[in-house]
Amino acid sequence: MAHFIIINNKVKSFNKKIIIDSDKSISIRSLIFASLATGISKIQNLLESEDIFNTIKSLKKLGIKIKKIKKIYFVHGLGINKFKYKKKLTLNAGNSGTLARLIASLLIRSPYKIKLIGDTSLSKRDFGRIIDPLSKFGAKFYPKNKKTLPLMIKHNKNSIEDLFFENKGSAQVKSAIMLAALNFKHTTQIQAKKSRNHTENFFKFLNIPIKIKKSQKKDLIKVKGLEKIKPFNYKVPADISSGLFFIALAILTKNSKLTLKNVNINFSRIGAIEILKKMGVNFVFKNKKKYKGEDVSDIVVKSPKKLIAINCSSKMNSRAIDEFLIIFLIAAKAKGTSYFKDIGELNQKESPRLKIGSDFLKKIGVKNYVTANSIKIIGQPNLYLTKHYEMKNFLKDHRVFMMSVIAALTLGGNWKIFDPDSFKTSFPSFLKLIRKMGGKYKVSKKL
Ligand code: S3P
Repeated sequence: MAHFIIINNKVKSFNKKIIIDSDKSISIRSLIFASLATGISKIQNLLESEDIFNTIKSLKKLGIKIKKIKKIYFVHGLGINKFKYKKKLTLNAGNSGTLARLIASLLIRSPYKIKLIGDTSLSKRDFGRIIDPLSKFGAKFYPKNKKTLPLMIKHNKNSIEDLFFENKGSAQVKSAIMLAALNFKHTTQIQAKKSRNHTENFFKFLNIPIKIKKSQKKDLIKVKGLEKIKPFNYKVPADISSGLFFIALAILTKNSKLTLKNVNINFSRIGAIEILKKMGVNFVFKNKKKYKGEDVSDIVVKSPKKLIAINCSSKMNSRAIDEFLIIFLIAAKAKGTSYFKDIGELNQKESPRLKIGSDFLKKIGVKNYVTANSIKIIGQPNLYLTKHYEMKNFLKDHRVFMMSVIAALTLGGNWKIFDPDSFKTSFPSFLKLIRKMGGKYKVSKKL
């Protein structure tokens, strides 16, 4: 049943230490690599969200045994291209673009057509971006010329291609190419615009042949298939993208301080922190360590005395791609006009986030000018809301819901925010942690 939450009060100043849910990108990848390893891998702190449950269900359908014993996930990997392919198999990726695009790359050798489906949001998203490269690896997609889910995928012919170009800055596309390349003995080269590099880190940590030549905007990645991947142990750190909602709560609530424990601060993921530093926010990193190629740290943030607008360099875009909605909200309270450019990719997410972010700001009286590729936000440092606001989010975008909750708890007004279940795709503890910060809300079951 569709329902909503009601928020009528701002949060009071706080000083808290919290643990955010585990990283979604790394959780999905840890399960995928464990399924490709030969033997039993152990994964701790796996994110227990719907996107991950759909990853587990899909891998189980492909013959991978996955068991949870005392908080540890035991994944019985069968090896590269050793899934138990069956006729009439349907895999449901739910809301997850990462799962759908990465798992498609593991099916390019299936002798049978495997059907890939997703929810309403995922079924609107572009799959042309993986159909092109995976077809060059010898996969065939049905129906022909269709670029959205549902799609069927099957092996067609052996690969002839060994050079790929990834120009969108999409880690999902880059990762799909890298995983597909594991099936071949020859070297596959990918010239990829910079994007998050967790897949590269897994390759290195698992001793899968990889060479990376970095330049300013692009990486030239060379990868090669191998006989076997050894099983491994992994402990997933907390997700900076989820953490940003609470960082925003601290920034927008006067006299507040927040410590987030054990967060992944991989360089390719912390664009939002660099953007916020330029806007006047101070961050302190404590207990920094390296973990299997990833950087992990506690993060301490205090609400700043004032926020200043930013003319954001497009170099930050892929490094902050999942955080822009919340950055727009912070920009709404900054002094001056903020400008974000070359961010058309935001409209390719779980919902068209550039457009939705602009509509949201208009709804709360914040002037902004949006194009298909950019947004200018006229900040109002004294923004204080007093009216009634309803936030309906037809594509049930988890980040739109969470951003709306942070707005309601920091800007005032009376709020009705629909689809409170949406956050369960990425951040199941979100509302529990909101309560812990002193945030008050009521859940309604009725429309
Ligand atoms: C992800 C990559 C990004 C990001 C998504 C997770 C990943 O998508 O938005 O939430 O885990 O590789 P794109 O690769 O499409 O930019």
